[in-house]
Amino acid sequence: MTITATTAATGLRLRKLGQHIGARIEGLDLSGPLDPGTVAAIRGALSEHKALVFADAGIATDAQQEAFAARFGPLTTAHPTVTFHEGAPKTVLPVDSEESVANQWHTDVTFVLNPPQVSTLRAVVLPPYGGETLIANTAAAYRSLPSELQRLADTLWAEHTNASDYIKPRTVQGEKEQQYQQAFVSQTFRTVHPVVRVHPLTGEKGLFIGAFAQRLRLLGVSAYESADLLRTFQAHITRPEYVVRVSWDPGQVVVFDNRITQHYAIDNYDRAPRKLNRITVAGDIPTAVDGQRSYALEGDSSHYSQIVELG
Ligand SMILES: [Fe+2]
Repeated sequence: MTITATTAATGLRLRKLGQHIGARIEGLDLSGPLDPGTVAAIRGALSEHKALVFADAGIATDAQQEAFAARFGPLTTAHPTVTFHEGAPKTVLPVDSEESVANQWHTDVTFVLNPPQVSTLRAVVLPPYGGETLIANTAAAYRSLPSELQRLADTLWAEHTNASDYIKPRTVQGEKEQQYQQAFVSQTFRTVHPVVRVHPLTGEKGLFIGAFAQRLRLLGVSAYESADLLRTFQAHITRPEYVVRVSWDPGQVVVFDNRITQHYAIDNYDRAPRKLNRITVAGDIPTAVDGQRSYALEGDSSHYSQIVELG
């Protein structure tokens, strides 16, 4: 079995991290110019493996991370509502343990009409232990469903909102956490997305739900029943087979395809300082199996992200 593959076609030194998701790329400095062939190889690897861990990224500044993320397309601003980080570049969302812990399974910013297509994370401050990120392949999860459940999921739509318990207060709250939570819900966004999304590049079908998906838009189904159905699909996404557990090293950069993954930040580091800088790439409006597109019920997110049709 080949553990590390370096091919003339891609030039990437790439090692798979599991059968369904994840690859580690070594020896690739992302801080400077990248030739078009390398960029295409990275995009291809992302489509195939969904999450890429760059071990020797060489990126030391936000500007370098911006330049790298922009290889995938136009960038979003930091966040639709969390915009209070003065001094940070407008594209950078500091994911800071002093402000929030994302220990719920989610896809980034699905409460807007066109969530980011790609998320990039860079380790800035790491705890002495723990703080790993779990990332799940939602296409593999979809494929694991019995065909009868696939057909059901294909027809379902769910309402996503930032006014969810994703940001629910914990028992003990610091001032920075309160500030973050107030900003997070300062404007309400509600968007209806298909439960099964067709990836515009690969054609794969992936379950598209997560913590912001509050309930199914299904006549005759109660909130209680809706939660049960969503839980059934969500349980497939988080089966260990479809999940990679990424440990962080100083300077490491992780990129995941936000159209076909969910992730979870493990809260297992005794609240030691932990900061990752996130920069996201503007995405398309999700497309259902029947070709219909997502639609917004509340909130205009055009200040946050332009709509990118492909890429
Ligand atoms: Fe996230």
